Amino acid sequence: MRVAVYPGSFDPITLGHVDVLRRSLDVFDRVVVAVLVNPKKAPMLDVAARVDTIVSGVAEALPDFSERVDVRPFAGLTVEACRELGASHIIRGLRAVSDFEAELQMAHMNHRLAPEIDTVFFMTALEFGYLSSSLVREIVRFGGDPAGMVPPSVAARLVAVAAAEGAPSRMR
Ligand code: PNS
Repeated sequence: MRVAVYPGSFDPITLGHVDVLRRSLDVFDRVVVAVLVNPKKAPMLDVAARVDTIVSGVAEALPDFSERVDVRPFAGLTVEACRELGASHIIRGLRAVSDFEAELQMAHMNHRLAPEIDTVFFMTALEFGYLSSSLVREIVRFGGDPAGMVPPSVAARLVAVAAAEGAPSRMR
């Protein structure tokens, strides 16, 4: 059984993440989406909400694959999460060359920390190459519509959280 960990902040999961996850399931039998608990960052969605939205987003967007996807929070090093979960590989997406430098550094560092674990990159589909979680958060917080950027249930959750934060209501 080939197991991989797909780590990230996922605040929120986007359709770009979903695309990378879908393609990783062609290569791995099981993929654990590992949601970073970072006490230094104040996320828009707390960790429980991020786990919930990933589970519901994957069920909606990848119904034929969701049995092979686990979603869990983790704190600490990604390579330690991989070891605990029995994963041989880390999955990361590359949208553009601007992602490359930081990803290369992380991949080398992770390999130094855990030589038995390797990183596999998937090129995010062109149609999602412009998407980022931070842009989605900004759009929603200014009353914009995130439809087509995140799975529908995630969009609804984000709009509700933004409204609770006092964001202007969506323009129609
Ligand atoms: O979605 P992100 O924010 O780009 O994900 C970054 C993430 C979670 C993959 C990275 O920050 C990470 O692995 N953090 C866990 C701590 C760790 O292992 N740091 C060393 C990385 S070389």
